[in-house]
Amino acid sequence: MKIKESIAVSFLTVLIVSCSGHEQHAVNLEPTDLAKVNHPGAKVYQSACMSCHALAAKEEGIAPPLFGVKDHVIKTYPERMAFIQRVVAWVKAPNPNDVLMPGAVKKFGLMPAQTQISDAELQAVAEFIYDTDFTKPDWYAAHYQAEHGKKPQ
Ligand code: HEC
Repeated sequence: MKIKESIAVSFLTVLIVSCSGHEQHAVNLEPTDLAKVNHPGAKVYQSACMSCHALAAKEEGIAPPLFGVKDHVIKTYPERMAFIQRVVAWVKAPNPNDVLMPGAVKKFGLMPAQTQISDAELQAVAEFIYDTDFTKPDWYAAHYQAEHGKKPQ
């Protein structure tokens, strides 16, 4: 038991160090092929969100990757309509008093409001995020555990 615990602790330490480091980490991942995704929201994502939210890249960019965003929002808003409403409201006016990713806010700053997107586009991209299964890369479970003290469900 003791040995197991100390292995777990040193494993987490390594991850925390690598999370706060600035080197690029190679991620072995086949990202969802957006071209094959037949969803109107996929195009909105590509033009309005992807420059900040990569599909699955490690958090070394300027915002958390999309699958991580989804994973956090869906825990609080598991129901489709509520999820979509949350994303739509958030993109129009990110509320610093109601953040679901406090670690990301600390690291990257609050997301700037994206007011150039029409309501229809916003609805489509929120649906796209809810309806698409994004692959979670291997590093994610351990990263989540380091940030939240528990495994993602
Ligand atoms: C200029 C960079 C940028 C763009 C463009 C951007 N985001 Fe973000 N977004 C961020 C950052 C940084 C965070 C993490 C910090 C935070 O939560 O404010 C974030 C967080 C989020 C969250 C989680 C917020 C929560 O607490 O519920 C959602 C959802 C989100 N973005 C959706 C989108 C969608 C959808 C688009 C495209 C329409 C988009 N973002 C475009 C930078 C961006």
